[in-house]
Amino acid sequence: MAEENFTEEKLISSMFCGIWKSRCLSVLVSLGVPELLCTSSSPVSIQEIAERTGCHTDEKLYKIMRTMAQWGIGEELSEKSFKANRAMELLRRDKGPSLGHMVGYYGSDEFWTAMLALPEAIKRGGDTAFELAHGMNLYDYMYKVGELEYSLDKMKPENPASEMGTKQRQQRRSEFAHNYDHAMNMLSQLELHSAQPSVFTVYPWDKCNRIMDIGGGEGHFLSHILQLPGCEHTHGVLFDFPDVIKRAKEFLAKESITDSRVTLFCGDILKNVPQSKEVDTIIVKNLFVIFTEDEMVKVLENCRQVLAKDGKFIIVNSCNPEAGDTDHNVARTGLHPGFRGVHIMTLCKMGNFRTKSEWLHLIGRLCTRVAFQLKHVYETGDGPKLFELLKCD
Ligand SMILES: C[S@@+](CC[C@H](N)C(=O)[O-])C[C@H]1O[C@@H](n2cnc3c(N)ncnc32)[C@H](O)[C@@H]1O
Repeated sequence: MAEENFTEEKLISSMFCGIWKSRCLSVLVSLGVPELLCTSSSPVSIQEIAERTGCHTDEKLYKIMRTMAQWGIGEELSEKSFKANRAMELLRRDKGPSLGHMVGYYGSDEFWTAMLALPEAIKRGGDTAFELAHGMNLYDYMYKVGELEYSLDKMKPENPASEMGTKQRQQRRSEFAHNYDHAMNMLSQLELHSAQPSVFTVYPWDKCNRIMDIGGGEGHFLSHILQLPGCEHTHGVLFDFPDVIKRAKEFLAKESITDSRVTLFCGDILKNVPQSKEVDTIIVKNLFVIFTEDEMVKVLENCRQVLAKDGKFIIVNSCNPEAGDTDHNVARTGLHPGFRGVHIMTLCKMGNFRTKSEWLHLIGRLCTRVAFQLKHVYETGDGPKLFELLKCD
């Protein structure tokens, strides 16, 4: 062997072992082991864990739990009993968005089936792996449950999906969507709150009077801004698809953000200009990564109509490391920016998780088509960057 410390061997092994790590985590999360251990006041025997999670025998489950404990997920004590640790706490799904939802989403049958189609999707170009596997795109799968029937006929002939989830398909799609939302929410929290300095401190949010978040999901980012010191006067406007806005209402109520602080609009930003009063700031966070350049132009044109003179349009996005940079492939929280790019590509036709220089080139091209100019790029530790565009005449 050429290298005595086996650096490359370790690298490759750690990558292909990902399949076991990911699958074993999924097993624990789908059985509800984290909730069971975290709510038990004393260690729990493997027999009891198996019984309470609906496993017919404890033999196979023990092998998984033992291995996961070796890696720090839970703790094994004497006589095949287990107790929770911080990692198990992070995997609970009964206390709001968590890493458990991320495991649930990335480990879902839907996602794995899409991953099976990845080699074919790479060879062909065009349809995404998710479309090849499921016959529809991710958002239609999740949010058009009533309108668009899941049909094996609509799938591409090479699709690798078997008759998965034939019973209760509609419920299954809704559950998947719920898990996806919580997973993306958790991912967003990880990237926002771990970076030093953070998105909330690098930008002068207190200078904004009326901020609109387009594709703002349930409003986590916006509500955090509205609660920053100095932003007591700021009004928020949230724009997203109807289903998402319905959930945003519940979330904002829980956060005690009253109607006097935030206005909700639903629609499709590619088709509608938000019917809001003029705003001085528009945010698009993790939105342009799923749009084509023509669609981005459409968004900018629609946004111009509701943006005040000299208004700001801020693209908030984490970036892929530049070519040759092997020092930033894992963020402090363990998120892998490059693989996030592969994830987006698997799901969205135009999915592109760009480097900073790719963003700058793209923004340059967009600004030749719609009257904006890049004013500043705000950097935040290893979190998202803020590309601030100024509306021009
Ligand atoms: C990747 S998520 C980002 C959510 C949030 N901004 C964040 O950073 O966590 C994209 C969001 O954009 C919304 N979205 C996608 N296409 C849209 C469109 N054409 N019009 C309005 N909202 C859209 C989705 O419903 C989703 O909430």
